[in-house]
Amino acid sequence: MSPSLRERYGPWALVAGASDGIGEAFARALAAAGLNLVLLARRAQLLAGLAADLEGEHGISTRCLTADLTATDILSQVAAGTSDLEIGLLVYNAGATHGAAHVLDKPLGASLGLVALNCIGPLSLSHHFGGLMRERGRGGIVLLSSLASLSGGSYTAVYNATKSFELILAEGLWHELKPSGVDAMCLIAGATRTPSMLQSMPSFASYPGLMTAQQVAEEGLSFLGRGPVWVAGEHNRAIARRLLPNSRVAQVNALSAASAGIFGKPVQDLAGEDF
Ligand SMILES: NC(=O)c1ccc[n+]([C@@H]2O[C@H](COP(=O)([O-])OP(=O)(O)OC[C@H]3O[C@@H](n4cnc5c(N)ncnc54)[C@H](OP(=O)(O)O)[C@@H]3O)[C@@H](O)[C@H]2O)c1
Repeated sequence: MSPSLRERYGPWALVAGASDGIGEAFARALAAAGLNLVLLARRAQLLAGLAADLEGEHGISTRCLTADLTATDILSQVAAGTSDLEIGLLVYNAGATHGAAHVLDKPLGASLGLVALNCIGPLSLSHHFGGLMRERGRGGIVLLSSLASLSGGSYTAVYNATKSFELILAEGLWHELKPSGVDAMCLIAGATRTPSMLQSMPSFASYPGLMTAQQVAEEGLSFLGRGPVWVAGEHNRAIARRLLPNSRVAQVNALSAASAGIFGKPVQDLAGEDF
């Protein structure tokens, strides 16, 4: 029998963006698997309600961190709030965009906020927790991205660019950390029914082929440790395969070898599954 999620990534997981949607679904799936949870988001009341549910239903321990992932001191807040816990799994979930507009028609501050949420946040938390996981020789990191990461395009250009950052960062972390026993991956979601999306676009409810947050989280957790990138949903995988027709594992190995060659560093080809 293969080791359970708790054996591989326990005793604690941190879900950044846990109060609703895909993050809440991750929290519920991880609690059902017996992991203790640090639940991070801005709405304290929602976090407290979820924490009470999960403790009651699964007998796990929880800690709520009320924080804004775009805050300039987010890393010190999170590090201080978790310094006594062994976090074996980081799920960096928060990161949806709200509304659609050309780059120049949006306030620059809104776009810089997305850069903070989708680039600085995942890099800072991965650097902190990934370092501790590498020392222990075990752990997992899941960065949530989007089909929008696979191309530039009008109306969500900055969102697409920041989601690309998460994809490329997760692939690099996969290659760098796997030899140390730490599993990093990018989970790409397509259209998924979440409170965030319904709030920013009520007509989203009738968008064809919406996935549930639970389906997305469960697919991600079942792929963790098998390869660098998973795309949730067969329909979304078909779209992604048209946009990214080559093996990601082969590409990450090839680019790692090229960088190692240029800079005279050691490198090894890694085995992994593609989406
Ligand atoms: N839903 C989709 O159709 C879809 C499609 C493709 C990709 N994705 C990706 O899936 C992930 C989750 O998406 P989602 O639709 O569930 O919506 P989301 O708005 O990215 O996530 C909602 C969760 O993140 C928290 N959050 C948002 N901004 C935060 C901030 N600045 N600081 C702390 N917490 C924050 C929210 O809690 P608080 O409001 O309480 O802070 C809530 O718990 C995102 O990375 C998104 O890009 C979603």
